Amino acid sequence: MSPSLNPPALARLLGEWNLGVAPAYRELADVVRLLVLDGRVALDTAMPSERALSEALGVSRTTVTAAYGHLREQGFLSSGQGSRGRTRIPRLTALGTTVLTDPGLTTAGRTPGTTSPGLAAPEGLIDLAYASLPACGEVVHRAFAAALTELPALLPGFGYDAMGLLPLRETVAARYTAAGVPTTAEQILVTSGAQHALNIIIRALAGRQDRVLVEHPSYPNALDAIRAAGCRAIPVAFTAAHGAGTDRADGGPALAWDMHALQAAMTQQRPRMAYVVPDFHNPTGQLMPDVQRRQLVRAAAVAGTVLVVDETLRALNLDGVETSPVAAFSPAVVTIGSLSKSHWAGLRTGWIRASEAMIQRFAAARTSLDLGGPLMEQLAAAHLVRALDEPLPARLSALRDNRTALLELLAGHLPDWETARPAGGLSVWCRLPAPVSTALTVIAPDFGIRLAAGPRFGIGGAFERYLRVPFSLPPDQLETAVLALRSAQDRLDAAPQLRRTLKNAPALAIA
Ligand SMILES: Cc1ncc(COP(=O)(O)O)c(C=O)c1O
Repeated sequence: MSPSLNPPALARLLGEWNLGVAPAYRELADVVRLLVLDGRVALDTAMPSERALSEALGVSRTTVTAAYGHLREQGFLSSGQGSRGRTRIPRLTALGTTVLTDPGLTTAGRTPGTTSPGLAAPEGLIDLAYASLPACGEVVHRAFAAALTELPALLPGFGYDAMGLLPLRETVAARYTAAGVPTTAEQILVTSGAQHALNIIIRALAGRQDRVLVEHPSYPNALDAIRAAGCRAIPVAFTAAHGAGTDRADGGPALAWDMHALQAAMTQQRPRMAYVVPDFHNPTGQLMPDVQRRQLVRAAAVAGTVLVVDETLRALNLDGVETSPVAAFSPAVVTIGSLSKSHWAGLRTGWIRASEAMIQRFAAARTSLDLGGPLMEQLAAAHLVRALDEPLPARLSALRDNRTALLELLAGHLPDWETARPAGGLSVWCRLPAPVSTALTVIAPDFGIRLAAGPRFGIGGAFERYLRVPFSLPPDQLETAVLALRSAQDRLDAAPQLRRTLKNAPALAIA
């Protein structure tokens, strides 16, 4: 049964909504909207009647009627029957107009029958190809509200800024400095996310046929960017070891960086650059210990290789294991950061931290890709970075619960899948009992799920025995997803002729 909200409960949630800085109906509507965006009022909740709410809040019925009307116009309330509208989230149509989503959309995932803007799974599927989270709605919304008041000061300018807005660069620099990596604003280039940052770096540093060292497996979109630039990827495999920060759920050894192999590849192949994800590596979830960070930096310096460190997932430190940013070990390190996992991928805001000279090269290389980032996003991002940790406790706590749920579900329903418990990040890298990752991916939609096959994370068809399963969805959806995986596995076991592998895994949207 759909929930309903009684007037005193809503009044408690609203708190001090009536600040007197705007018409009362607007203030009331704004706070209700924030509660919905933030997930504190669930979707499809029946709101109190106009009369009951006006009595509970001690305001005129006209104020409540106008507030509800405003919420309806904005797509946050259904027309409903009588005056008891239900909460909704508006979505964009191709024409840019807002329409109402179906009831049942949770703040933590897509549900059958709904479509989200952007790279959504086909309707009706639980999407396990994305390891990503919905926005910290209230925090993001508040940052944009503040940004809107600051925008007028920028309007007389031309609006082009290849380096990024100074207040944002200063704020990002201050965070690095506080983390033990002294940084000035001139060492920061603002980008439209980490993927954009990597493309700028490749464009500036690596030409066709240049060698680029990558971990194997690695983040698929990074591998695509390296391939698209005509560079030659040099894959270095992980090794089985008792790695810090990750435990095999069944007590066996976890994967770890093979420092010997990394050093040998650098010395022998002298790659132009190396792209690594030492912080909750995507897809393995591994965390590189400080001793290896130091070794990596040294090996890159000896080989003359530019070390590019992607810290996109660093904030998702579920177990609180402390490590130093790799840049703390050398000023030559190029670091990529992003708000996509800490706050929301829809912000499309990230940055590069490097030496001043290197940042100048990146800024020059950027102008063939774009002429700067959108200023509203940067104004909002400055607020978000200033209070970067604010949304993290709630986010990390939910992710810890999801991680526990996923590992238990996998152990219970797919006991012959080997799993490791990652110390952070968003996913579990599962080793399958047979090379059926692509086959599972192909039949997965029949069971209501969308998967990213293991080979998408590798080069030349590797990782048919692996599947990345994200725990970014809430436990109830994870349960449905794992039961679907079990059914898909059963079908393959019963019909081995369905097994197939693809040399080049289909390039579906993944994050
Ligand atoms: C390691 C890594 N790098 C980059 C990205 C892309 O980040 P952004 O959304 O900032 O482009 C992701 C997203 O999943 C990621 O996991």
